[in-house]
Amino acid sequence: MKGFRIILLLLLGGILTASAQTKIFIDTEVATQTISRHIYGHFSEHLGRCIYDGLWVGKNSTIPNINGFRQEAVAALLEIGIPNLRWPGGCFADIYHWQDGIGDPKKRPPILNYHWGNVTEDNSFGTHEFLELCELLKCEPYLAANVGTGTPRDLKDWVQYVNAKGTSPMTQLRARNGRTAPWAVKYWGIGNEVWGCGGNMDAEYYARLYNHYATFCRDYDDTRCVRIACGPYGSDTTWTATLLKHINPGLLQGLSMHYYTVARGDWNKKGSATNFGEEEWFEQLSATLKMEEAIDQNSRVMDRFDPEKKIALIVDEWGDWYDVEPGTEGGFLYQQNSLRDALVAAINFNIFNNRCDRVKMANIAQTVNVLQSVALTRGSELVRTPTFYAFKLFRPHSDATLLPSRIEAELYTFNGKSIPAVTVSASRNKEGVIHISLTNADPKTSQEIVCELKGFSPEYVEGKMITAEAINAFNDFGKAEAVNIQSFDGERIFGNKILLTLPAKSVLMLEAH
Ligand code: AHR
Repeated sequence: MKGFRIILLLLLGGILTASAQTKIFIDTEVATQTISRHIYGHFSEHLGRCIYDGLWVGKNSTIPNINGFRQEAVAALLEIGIPNLRWPGGCFADIYHWQDGIGDPKKRPPILNYHWGNVTEDNSFGTHEFLELCELLKCEPYLAANVGTGTPRDLKDWVQYVNAKGTSPMTQLRARNGRTAPWAVKYWGIGNEVWGCGGNMDAEYYARLYNHYATFCRDYDDTRCVRIACGPYGSDTTWTATLLKHINPGLLQGLSMHYYTVARGDWNKKGSATNFGEEEWFEQLSATLKMEEAIDQNSRVMDRFDPEKKIALIVDEWGDWYDVEPGTEGGFLYQQNSLRDALVAAINFNIFNNRCDRVKMANIAQTVNVLQSVALTRGSELVRTPTFYAFKLFRPHSDATLLPSRIEAELYTFNGKSIPAVTVSASRNKEGVIHISLTNADPKTSQEIVCELKGFSPEYVEGKMITAEAINAFNDFGKAEAVNIQSFDGERIFGNKILLTLPAKSVLMLEAH
C-alpha cells in the first residue's frame, strides 16, 4: 500500500511538471452566485424556416404535430429543457403588429416580412400560438415589443392583453379569442437593435423613447415585468453608458447585448458552416472568445451606474453566423452545424457561467433552421445538431451555484496567432454534486489537465464528452449521428485533484461526487 502511494505521488509529480499541461483551480469554499438557467435560453424569430415549418407546421399538416406545433421539435426542446424563448424578433419585432396575429386565423391580415426573404406570412402563428408553445415547452416567454413602428399604446395593450386579470377591453378581447386566464409574461424587450434595423436611432434619443415606452409596460397583479432595453452590439460601451445615463433606473431591469461569432469580424467573408479547414476553425473560435471582452467591458460600465448589479446583462442574440447553405434562400439564414459549433456554444456557456453575477440570461440565435440552431428540419425529418448536444451536456449548470475557477491554460497556436486552448466553468448543485465543464479548442493536441478542488476531495468522478473524428463533422438527414454525447472515463482522482487527458477538439463535462 505504501509503495502504491509512492508510485501515485511520483505519477502525480510527473504530471504536475509535464510541459503541455493546463492547471485549473476551483474553489469549492467560496460560492455565492447562481448560474441562472436562463443563460441557456433561446431565440426564435419570424425568419426563414424557424417559426413557419420549423416550430409551427399548422394543425392540418401531415407532419406529426401537437395542435400545429412540430411534435419532434417540441420533443427535442423538452429534452434539453429550454428555460425561455424570445419572440417574435429580431429585426422582425419592429415591423410586427401583435393585433394582426390574434383572432380567427382565417381573418388575420398577412404581413410582408421584408427583412427576411420578402415573404408574405399569413400570421397564423401569433401571440396565442407562441404562448401555447411556451406552455408546451414549459419555458418562460420573452416578448420583444415593437418600438420602431409601434406605439406606446400598442405596447400597453399587448401587456394588458397577456398579463391583466381584471375586466378591460383587452382582457375581454383575449377571452373572446379563447383564453380567459392571463399568461403572466415577465420578460419584455423594448425594441430590438434600435441602433440598426429597429430604427437607426442614436443612444440618447432611444433612451428617452425607452423611458416613454417602458412606462406603459406596467406590472399587472402578481406579474413583475423585467423590462429590457436594447443594449449595445459587442463592445460598444458608449451606447451602454449613454443609455444608463439617460434611462430612468426604476424602469430598467435588463440591458440586452448582441454579439455574433463571425470569423475575423468580416461579415462579407463569413465562410461555410461545414466546408472548412483548421484556419477557419481557429478564426471562428478566436472570434467567439471576443464575447468575454464584450461582456467584461459592458459590465465595467454597468458597475459604475449599478454597483449592486440590479440590472441584468442579457445576451439575447449570440451564436455562429456563416454563409447560408448553397442553394438556399439568402434571407433565410439556414446553415448546417458542426463539431466547431458545439465548441463555440460550450465556450460561450463557460463565459456566461463565469459572469453570472451580471449575465442573467442569454438566447442563442436561433432555435430551429436559422443560424446556430439546435435542430434542423427537412420535411418531416429533424436532426439534432452538435449545438443541441452542447446544451444537453451543460444542463447540470442550470440554477447551480457557480464555483469560482482560475485557469493556467496552454496556448493553441495556429499560423503565429494564439488563443487559450482550454476554457472552464464549475458549479455545485443543490445535492452537492460538482460539475466542471471544459473545452479544448486545439484540434490536434490533447491537454493534460490537473484540476485542483480547494475544499473538496471527490470520491468518484464521471465524465461525458462531445468530440468527433473530423473538425467539421456534422449530423445530417438520413444518416447516423456523427456528433453526440459519449461517455468519458479518462479521469483519475488524487485527493483533491482530478487528473485527465482532455482530448483534442472536445467538450467535456465532469460530475464529481
Ligand atoms: O438573428 C438574426 C438577426 O440578427 C436579428 O433579426 C437581428 O436582431 C440581428 O441583427
